[in-house]
Amino acid sequence: MTASRTALVTGANQGLGRALAEGLAAGMSTADRVVLTGRRPDAVHAAAAAIAAAVPHGARIEPRVLDVRDGPAIDALAADLGGVDIVFSNAAARMGRDDRPVDQVDAVAETNNLATTRVLRAFGPRLRPGGRLIVVASALGTLDKLDPHVRPRFAAAAEATLDAVDGVVAEWRAAVHAGRAVDEGYGAWLNIPSKVAQVAAVRAFARPRRRTDLAHRTLVAALCPGLIDTAASRPWFEDMSAAQTPTQAAAWPVELALGTTGDTVAAFHGELVQFGTVVPWRTGRPVPHRATT
Ligand SMILES: NC(=O)c1ccc[n+]([C@@H]2O[C@H](COP(=O)([O-])OP(=O)(O)OC[C@H]3O[C@@H](n4cnc5c(N)ncnc54)[C@H](OP(=O)(O)O)[C@@H]3O)[C@@H](O)[C@H]2O)c1
Repeated sequence: MTASRTALVTGANQGLGRALAEGLAAGMSTADRVVLTGRRPDAVHAAAAAIAAAVPHGARIEPRVLDVRDGPAIDALAADLGGVDIVFSNAAARMGRDDRPVDQVDAVAETNNLATTRVLRAFGPRLRPGGRLIVVASALGTLDKLDPHVRPRFAAAAEATLDAVDGVVAEWRAAVHAGRAVDEGYGAWLNIPSKVAQVAAVRAFARPRRRTDLAHRTLVAALCPGLIDTAASRPWFEDMSAAQTPTQAAAWPVELALGTTGDTVAAFHGELVQFGTVVPWRTGRPVPHRATT
C-alpha cells in the first residue's frame, strides 16, 4: 500500500488553480489530501466544497486560508503540513489594462515573485522523494521577451541564487515606482519581468538540487499552462478563440504532477515546460494573439 500523499495549490479558489486542485483530487486516492489554499476564506471554503461534491471518491480536499503576500504564513503552513508530495505555486495578482503599473507593481511583485521564492524556500526542503514542485509561470517568462538592456540581469540571477532573483525583482519594482521602468528596458507590462523572474527563480533554485533530485525522481520546474480563458487573461488577448478552459489547461500539469507523463524528470528539471516539451529559456516561443499594450 502506498503512503498517503499531500498536494498543495496556491490561489486555488478560481481559475487554473481551482482546476488543478480538482484534477489532483480526481487523480489521487481517498487516502490522500489536496490542500486548497487562497486568500479569501469564503471563496476557499466554497471552492473546496464544490470540488468535494464533484469528486466524491477522490482525495480529501482540505481548505486552508493562505494569503501568499504573507511570507510568515507560507512558512507556517509548510511547517504545519510537514512533508509534501506535490506543490503548485499558482497564485498571481491580476493586472488591469487601464491600471497604472505604479499602482500594481507591489501586488504583482509580492504575489507572483516574492511569494514564489518563499514557496520554493519553504516547501522545497519538505518535498518528499518523487515529489513535484511546480511554479505556474507563462510563455512570457523567457529571456527573449525582455528588452536586451535588462536581459543580462535576469540571466545572471537565474545562474545565481533566489536572493539574487529577489534582488532583480526589487530593482525592477524600484524602477517602476521611480517612473524609470520603460526607459530602463523593463517595459510597461508588469507581467513580462514578473514571469521571467519566476522562471529565473526556478532555475536558480533547481540547479544546486539537481543531482539529488534526479536520484530521487523529484521534479522542480516552471510551467507554461498556455492561454486559458479566465478573467485574468481576457483583457490582454484580442483573440480568445483558441483559449483553453481551466479544466483543459490543468490536464497535462496534473499528469505531470502525478507522474503519469513518463520519465521526464531529467529533461524537465529546472526548466519551463509546456505540453510535454521544454520552452527554451533564452529564445522562448512566440506568444500569439497578444494584445498590443
Ligand atoms: N489565464 C491565462 O491565460 C494564463 C496564461 C499563462 C499563465 N497563467 C498563469 O496561471 C496562473 C493562474 O492564472 P488564472 O488565469 O487562473 O488567474 P486568476 O483567475 O486571476 O486566479 C488567480 C488566483 O490567485 C489568487 N490570488 C491572488 N492574489 C493572491 C494572494 N495574495 N494570496 C493567495 N491567492 C491569491 C486569486 O485569488 P482571489 O480569487 O482571491 O483573487 C485566484 O484564486 C497564474 O500564475 C497566471 O499567471 C495564466
